[in-house]
Amino acid sequence: HPAHEFCAAAGAADAGCGGGGGDGTRILIKGGTVVNAHRAEEADVYIEDGVVVAVRPNIPVGDDNVRVIDATGKYVMPGGIDPHTHLAMEFMGTVTIDDFFSGHAAALAGGTTMHIDFVIPVGGNLTAGLESYRQKAAKAAMDYGFHMAITKWNDEVAREMEVMVKEHGINSFKFFMAYKGSLMVTDDLLLQGLQKCKSLGALAMVHAENGDAVAEGQKRMFDLGITGPEGHALSRPPILEGEATARAIRLAKFINTPLYVVHVMSIDAMEEIAKAKREGQRVIGEPVVSGLVLDDSLLWDPDFTIASKYVMSPPIREAGHGKALQAALSSGILQLVGTDHCTFNSTQKAFGSDDFRKIPNGVNGLEERMHIIWDSMVETGKISVTDYVRVTSTECAKIFNIYPRKGAILEGSDADIIILNPERSFVMGAHTHHSRSNTNVYEGRKGKGLVEVTISRGRVVWEDDILNIAPGSGRYVRMPPFGYVFDGIEKSDAAYRASLRAPVQRRVVAA
Ligand code: URP
Ligand code: ZN
Ligand code: ZN
Ligand code: ZN
Repeated sequence: HPAHEFCAAAGAADAGCGGGGGDGTRILIKGGTVVNAHRAEEADVYIEDGVVVAVRPNIPVGDDNVRVIDATGKYVMPGGIDPHTHLAMEFMGTVTIDDFFSGHAAALAGGTTMHIDFVIPVGGNLTAGLESYRQKAAKAAMDYGFHMAITKWNDEVAREMEVMVKEHGINSFKFFMAYKGSLMVTDDLLLQGLQKCKSLGALAMVHAENGDAVAEGQKRMFDLGITGPEGHALSRPPILEGEATARAIRLAKFINTPLYVVHVMSIDAMEEIAKAKREGQRVIGEPVVSGLVLDDSLLWDPDFTIASKYVMSPPIREAGHGKALQAALSSGILQLVGTDHCTFNSTQKAFGSDDFRKIPNGVNGLEERMHIIWDSMVETGKISVTDYVRVTSTECAKIFNIYPRKGAILEGSDADIIILNPERSFVMGAHTHHSRSNTNVYEGRKGKGLVEVTISRGRVVWEDDILNIAPGSGRYVRMPPFGYVFDGIEKSDAAYRASLRAPVQRRVVAA
């Protein structure tokens, strides 16, 4: 009963709600290397009723009603969790082509078993926004959670934020510092929002670009007669992302609340995060797959259909930024990988054929993320297999406070599991992908490592290149507030207040 899953009465665990799982399916995965963020080990995994029941070597097969899957020579890992998607989102005069069914098909075929999507308020109203997304998600085929965007400010919005956190399982709010005239917020709103987030134990997220300067940059390009997709990149350079990232970080520091910077696309933004972290501030940086492995040369392709598919915000940057972001990810400056999956087909992208400002912003990635990160980061030796699990799944589950139910293969965890064969390879493209889009920004991309099996809450949903999924089987995952990133905030507030109350003493010490 989907409606039940959104009401407070359903309780935090929401056990037994939604379809799937709980159907008595029993699976034994034998002989693989089980990888969690804390360690990799040779072990078997026994699953019953959608939950991991045992993880240890040599689990006996038992009776005939247990399906045995041989994982010898393969990695058995938590399914991916994508912290950043936009399914069925109304944006820039159109709607993203992937909805909660086609998006889930794509995700599961690519080894992702949960994602967190952004609810956009309807006319600034949060409750109406949630209701709209609840309906969109009725066809869900895998587990999902919600962040919520805050696009205007008044007492009603502040009250509704509290209701979202306390009754509806939302523990994060996104503030767009760009998209002037539609989603953009002022510094004043951002400050109010940060303060409210802090009091609720909800994580503030920012899209960090200076929206006023972007509008100015767009005008500048038009004055120069640059109207094609390359104008998108030229009008919003890395300095505008660096500026907004720095501003958001400083405002979060002023309020003393944790900050999550979504889609970190440039060295400029990454360096601001690195600096804040070095100074002890709690800032989380999320690179996305497109920013890690693509570069902006594609925006200069003379074929509009090709160039326009790479238009997203902040823009995909010049060669060099991606490598630096990869290094930041391997060293922990950036913590987890998203996609910002926000797909528009070539007809939708063509809305901007004579004006880059009208090209709907967004790229695909939900199906490709797990494979691309494995191939570009693990296969090249940049990160370990345990770090792979951390950046694609565990860290997301921890930050959004659903670990270890999600993000781990431990006794009691949801059985969201993938089996990856490191010896096989993949080829990506619009003819084979499961997204509804007729284009793919990773067209023709090849690499090593193939997700052969995806298990979603105990059901094998992807195997032998075949999806076996049902609309409505996905379940809403409630995310409680005050996750680990809030632990200690009260103490640092108390220390700050104490320092203010001893001014005389301070002056004496200083002298
Ligand atoms: O271009 C993008 N990123 N589209 C999705 C909306 C957003 O800013 O995340
Ligand atoms: Zn329920
Ligand atoms: Zn954004
Ligand atoms: Zn986004």
